Amino acid sequence: MPGSAELQIHAGGPGRAHAWCVGAFRGQPPAVGELPPALGEAATALARRKGWTGEDGQAAETALADGTVVRLRGLGATEAFELRTLRSWLAPVAAAAARGGAKRLGIAMPDHAALRGEAAEAALVAAGLLGYAFDRFRSRPARPALAGIEVAPPPGQRATYRAALPASRALVASIAFARDLANSPPNEATPAWMAARARELAKKYGMKATVLGPAELRKRGMGGILAVGEGSANGPRMVRLEVGRGPLTVALVGKGVTFDTGGISIKPAAGMEDMKYDKSGACTVLGIARAAAELKLPLRLRIYVPLAENMASGTSYRPGDIVRCYNGKTVDITNTDAEGRMLLADALAWAAEEKPDVMLDYATLTGACVVALGTSAAGLFSPDDTLAEQILAAARTAGERLWRLPLWPEYIEDMKGIHGDLRNSGGRWGGASTAAAFLAQFTGDVRRWAHFDIAGAAYIGSERGSGDKGATGFAIASSLRVLRQLATEGARRGRPARTR
Ligand code: BES
Ligand code: MN
Ligand code: ZN
Repeated sequence: MPGSAELQIHAGGPGRAHAWCVGAFRGQPPAVGELPPALGEAATALARRKGWTGEDGQAAETALADGTVVRLRGLGATEAFELRTLRSWLAPVAAAAARGGAKRLGIAMPDHAALRGEAAEAALVAAGLLGYAFDRFRSRPARPALAGIEVAPPPGQRATYRAALPASRALVASIAFARDLANSPPNEATPAWMAARARELAKKYGMKATVLGPAELRKRGMGGILAVGEGSANGPRMVRLEVGRGPLTVALVGKGVTFDTGGISIKPAAGMEDMKYDKSGACTVLGIARAAAELKLPLRLRIYVPLAENMASGTSYRPGDIVRCYNGKTVDITNTDAEGRMLLADALAWAAEEKPDVMLDYATLTGACVVALGTSAAGLFSPDDTLAEQILAAARTAGERLWRLPLWPEYIEDMKGIHGDLRNSGGRWGGASTAAAFLAQFTGDVRRWAHFDIAGAAYIGSERGSGDKGATGFAIASSLRVLRQLATEGARRGRPARTR
């Protein structure tokens, strides 16, 4: 499996890494406190070379007598460094190490407050994911695979990093799993294929799985997902997974559009290939479920994954159609490209009917959210301030950029129907918020609900920015933190009153 490079904490001593990367902040010597002396001395010598400043991106390397490569890389100003900077610092080092043929990579975590304490998990996950590649369709891998990644914790952080290792490993594997699914091409990853992957996951972790096909969806009156799926030869599926026990029930819902052409309201050709990532929300919730199951979180988790392909054909739904969703609300289709909310309408209504304590949904829902926040952040919407704050705090600790956007009552005005109850696309303005307002019509009595619009952060598209192209697994790490907190909350609530 890709991403299977074994993540370890460097045990001290000579270690087994073939290449080490060490950082130095501007104007400071490299942090070599916990490194074996020979490595530490080599890094220190590199930093003493003429011209070394520790500027962000500056690099120098040397090799020890036994062939171990030591690569020193500038970290820039201490004040500018944050958890997220670690990823951009790590990426080129890992690429260089792999090109140099190193099978085992050592990373000396910089000595910085942003990498201590609670940040240990995110730092380890960033290191572990350096082993990820999606090479399943290449004749030979783009770069040689790493077999192991050894992390030397920042000075004084050994115990903290050790404690964070199990969750970090589960996250690395689950993010790699979610990325593999999201990166899979739409000619392979049809709704049925995705449902089969969900079943496999369920089997591996003892989850209960239900998969609804077109006939069952019709029987249940799930008209939203059916309408979207109608135009494709690859029929829709709705997956429901159940895993874990505990006093609190959490529902996770993820948009799984295996390909989004826009339908009859067809999208322009440029960049349309990226619409294979329109199933990222589905992959995210499957990734979260995997991590939660592996760590045996004491929660009742329910995962709802609506899967459909939005195609343009003689059987497609059309603008002007009126569609009845699972909760009975009718929707005037004003744009067949606003398909994600049609799938989510049914899935959210089903999830809400089962009365979860908390409901979270993930969707590459709107271009408007990408316009607002760019490609490295996701939008968060919630009617519940406490839940929103909790999620934002978790995202900060996980090093993921999440920004709350409003869900004011006036947004629903734009989504009022013509002849039906609602319409599926509003006017030009506030598209991320009007979409969220539409979703809110299907959340029933669940007040502790939050919606993640991950259209920007879920993938690095073929024409987007720098770095390795492909799915990111965004929001899995943040969400796992939220779930762990909810499990603790459930345990507190579950105890008899006198011990509170
Ligand atoms: N899948 C798209 C949203 C999207 C856009 C994801 C860009 C990733 C990058 C979604 O189904 C969509 O097409 N939304 C429309 C809604 C509009 C028709 C109301 C949009 O954002 O343009
Ligand atoms: Mn669309
Ligand atoms: Zn879409």
